[in-house]
Amino acid sequence: MVVFGVASAHAYAADAPNGLAIAKSNACMGCHAVDRKLVGPSFQQIAGKYQGDAQAPAKLALKVRDGGSGVWGAIPMPSHPQMSDADIRTVVAWVLAGAPSK
Ligand code: HEC
Repeated sequence: MVVFGVASAHAYAADAPNGLAIAKSNACMGCHAVDRKLVGPSFQQIAGKYQGDAQAPAKLALKVRDGGSGVWGAIPMPSHPQMSDADIRTVVAWVLAGAPSK
């Protein structure tokens, strides 16, 4: 168990720069900033809202893929059908970790 914890902590840390790279290469940063609201909520606001929500990674992965509105306001989040599931999982984990820059 302890071994698993250590292993996943490492994988998580290694994903942080990846999450940022994926967000940049998929134009997420055109509507989201890490620490202030743009068109969409800041990634830190999102991390705060879903803190401790075990359903959040799955729920938000679907939202990134399919888009939607109504959680933060009337402006819709666009769908991203071209993104791979792995990229979506990585970027969502990064957002939920508070969008660390390293
Ligand atoms: C055209 C602007 C736009 C782009 C591009 C965009 N978003 Fe969003 N995003 C939004 C808006 C607006 C919302 C708020 C939607 C709502 O209120 O339900 C949002 C919400 C979110 C949420 C929270 C969803 C929820 O239900 O709480 C996440 C996570 C998110 N975006 C991630 C991303 C990621 C990752 C990308 C890039 C792959 C991205 N966004 C690209 C506008 C955008």
